[in-house]
Amino acid sequence: MPSLRPLFVTQLYEASLNREAGGAALVAELEAACLMLAEEDAAGRAWCRAQGYGGYTSYASLNDLATRAPAFGALKRRLDRHAAAAAEAFGFDLGGRRPRLDSLWANVLNPGAGHSGHIHPHSILSGTVYVRLPAGAPGLKLEDPRLPMMMAAPLPRPDAPETQQRFVTVRPEPGAVLLWESWLRHEVPPNRARTARISVSFNYA
Ligand SMILES: [Fe+2]
Repeated sequence: MPSLRPLFVTQLYEASLNREAGGAALVAELEAACLMLAEEDAAGRAWCRAQGYGGYTSYASLNDLATRAPAFGALKRRLDRHAAAAAEAFGFDLGGRRPRLDSLWANVLNPGAGHSGHIHPHSILSGTVYVRLPAGAPGLKLEDPRLPMMMAAPLPRPDAPETQQRFVTVRPEPGAVLLWESWLRHEVPPNRARTARISVSFNYA
């Protein structure tokens, strides 16, 4: 009987703060902290307006979230463990070193807004912690990294296994922690919920 052997696999690391002691409470604290930033960070709001970002992100304005509110500091300590676990699970040879948090930013995505396909340069692991996902809020759409080489490749059947699809949309629950290699292109489709979608994203170098 012939068999299939998956090669060059793209991994997605999935965990949940809800399964950790105090994790659910931390998610509630993060929600309040993200909304506080969105209200108080005038430079960030101005950047979002200038860039046409539909909502608020601290990405371009604040680089000290882990010291700005205790919730972000507590999150960083947990993410350090997840990043180390992901690096181990992905088989990275880091020469005995651990992944180091390079950036951490809050996202409050308004109804109707999305974030088109992108990668995260200058880092090895990227990811998101999902804080608030109202009904109709989008998940995370991941793209097959080999897409540019598929000029004549037949499309997969809709019933083909997830491992053989070109796009996979993950629908996380609040509290979910997702990590992937930073070169993996992904997007957030438009938010069809009536309220904001809140998440905290990060890069490890
Ligand atoms: Fe991203």
